[in-house]
Amino acid sequence: MTRDEAKAEIERLSTELEHHNRLYYEQATPEISDHDYDKLFRDLELLEEAHPDLASPNSPTRRVGSDVLDGFDQRDHQVPMLSIDDVFSEEEVGDFFARLEKNLGEMLIPVTIEPKIDGVAAALHYVNGELDYAVTRGDGSRGDVITENVRTIRSVPLRLPADKAPAYLEVRGEIFIPNQGFADMNVEREEAGLPTFANPSNAAAGALKLLDSKEVAKRPLDFIAHGLGRIDGGNLTSVIEFRSLLEQLGIPPNQPFWETDTLDGVLKAIQELDEKRHSLDYGTDGAVIKVDSFEWQNQLGATSRAPRWAAAFKYPPEQKETLLREVTIQVGRTGTLTPVAELEPVFVSGTTVRRATLHNQDEIDRKDVRVGDTVVIEKAGEIIPAVVKVVKDKRPTDSVPFSIYDFVDGKCPSCGSEIEKAEGFVAWKCVNFACPAKAANQVKQFVSRKALDIDGIGNIVAEKLVEREWVTGVLDLFTLEEEALGTFNLGTDDEPRMLGSKNAKKMVTTLEQAKTSPLRRWLFGLGIPQVGESAARELARLHQNFSELAESKILAELRTFKTGQRKEDNEMLAPYEIASEVGPTVAEKVLDYFASEAGQNLLAKLQELGIDPQSDNFAPQPAKAAEGAGGESAAPLAGKTVVITGKLSAPRGDIKEQILSLGGKVTGSISKNTDYLLAGEGGGSKRDKAAALEIPVISEEDLAAMVGG
Ligand code: IVH
Repeated sequence: MTRDEAKAEIERLSTELEHHNRLYYEQATPEISDHDYDKLFRDLELLEEAHPDLASPNSPTRRVGSDVLDGFDQRDHQVPMLSIDDVFSEEEVGDFFARLEKNLGEMLIPVTIEPKIDGVAAALHYVNGELDYAVTRGDGSRGDVITENVRTIRSVPLRLPADKAPAYLEVRGEIFIPNQGFADMNVEREEAGLPTFANPSNAAAGALKLLDSKEVAKRPLDFIAHGLGRIDGGNLTSVIEFRSLLEQLGIPPNQPFWETDTLDGVLKAIQELDEKRHSLDYGTDGAVIKVDSFEWQNQLGATSRAPRWAAAFKYPPEQKETLLREVTIQVGRTGTLTPVAELEPVFVSGTTVRRATLHNQDEIDRKDVRVGDTVVIEKAGEIIPAVVKVVKDKRPTDSVPFSIYDFVDGKCPSCGSEIEKAEGFVAWKCVNFACPAKAANQVKQFVSRKALDIDGIGNIVAEKLVEREWVTGVLDLFTLEEEALGTFNLGTDDEPRMLGSKNAKKMVTTLEQAKTSPLRRWLFGLGIPQVGESAARELARLHQNFSELAESKILAELRTFKTGQRKEDNEMLAPYEIASEVGPTVAEKVLDYFASEAGQNLLAKLQELGIDPQSDNFAPQPAKAAEGAGGESAAPLAGKTVVITGKLSAPRGDIKEQILSLGGKVTGSISKNTDYLLAGEGGGSKRDKAAALEIPVISEEDLAAMVGG
């Protein structure tokens, strides 16, 4: 295939895939099978791989995410993104309507009413029909550039139909997570031992903050347009015309939607939306009223905070009384004991509520919640049920205050070991490293991508392995035998589902490889409290292997530090130049872990299995290493801070990893503390800044030469 043919074919496949995307995601009327779709997708991928320079950043293949960013760039809004003034009663709606009439000097003012979507506001900029960039609302005048993340949202067209696209279009709208997607996601997170999100808008905001768009692609984000930022070409005169343009362009407009020119009409629409809103796919706690005519909108103008042509009616949260039958206690991955109110089922804001979290003892005390109480329930953010207060008049005379500690008799409900509450913390915790309630979640952490990255062990496999007691601690994974695993039942006794020999082989093979994974990955995988990825890396820089860690003099010294004491001032520790990720608390947790029964068992078992993970970034004394230049363990980039920009030969994450393993640090933006800017092709603004601050700009080749590679 010639280059020109490839170009034409890429164009043809992209257009066809976009067409099918629209049918699938917007109209829910697919014309081709998933299999045929996948085939087209794969063809496009292959062509783009063969001709990377012909691949558009707006290709349908980019929906799965691309390189990991080091941070978000920021960009000014061309037109500020304002707030909306809230109104809380029919009377206030009347006042708003009267103000419109007075300011415009008109009696009939057509307005539109639509749901207020609970999400994250963003502006999408299309130049000649191509998605050029997307920005969050930020502070209203400046936001984060989140283009890569937005590309993963299926309902956002990456290219608009060529014959209808204006030369420039800025569409504003809300990025959100649909209710069902939110519920599923929280279940998954809970199972994975990750913190759950309080409501869909927090979840959407959390997803958009991720720097790895491949992760974002896994979140069920969606987009609905509700406003026009800028348009060049075409002459739109009203909200209604704008909506019809959106439809033609395949951008989803906000639904349901009402038009009226009377106060009665507005109030009726507000009421109708109230009846419908709980069956909408997204959270809404309000109705937005907008003047339809753009000319009148301009005439009315805006205050510095909000336009005068719009108002948001806020529905009061629905509250119901119900009986608190009992309190149960859940044990999370980190051992936190969470009290849960078990309620007499009650229908609130569209769903039946049976349980509500009571958070912790402080919360129980503050509200004085007791078993047998009649409590008032509402849905926080219309989603998560919460106990608002107790109806004291209906309290049984014999009720007593609820104490978590007394209720569980001071013992973890899962393993029976003693629970503890750390000074200054509100939560009771089970600190037994071997608590089975934590085991499945520990396995999940151990096999996760940033830890030992074991193929074939997902959440379900991890849970079932623990449930069926094939695995009680992470090291048991290494004793699993391929043949037996092949027949491992992932289903139930009634409906068995075998793991299969292919998966079993994959698991055993990657587990075998994991035995020689570097120490930092092992350390992170063990899930020792406070030991995240960065701390694990720093610990592995300071220690060669587990036995050194378990008897670490460095950590023993560090754990004795009092607040305010500096590592640089300590004669013994100064030469190690220990990063801030490893402080007295981490030192304490690590030493405690290795001294505990679980830690001792781990060390013994590792020895038994012949596994002895070694550090791949061992370089404990940077200054000394630099003096003895050329020394074996010298980390060539020790103490150096590098910023990465432009197009490089490998994914950002890999390059970052490489720099870290050479002892360097990678940050997102250039400052006077930056030592080098590693720049590939492009990377304009960072190059300028580096030049201004006289920071050396190096290429990948320079980097390789510097580290002697
Ligand atoms: S119209 C600035 N319509 O609410 C006035 N905004 O509280 C024009 N929002 O930042 C905005 N749903 O992101 C409009 N149907 C809707 C909306 C909506 C949610 C957001 C919007 C704005 C915020 C203001």
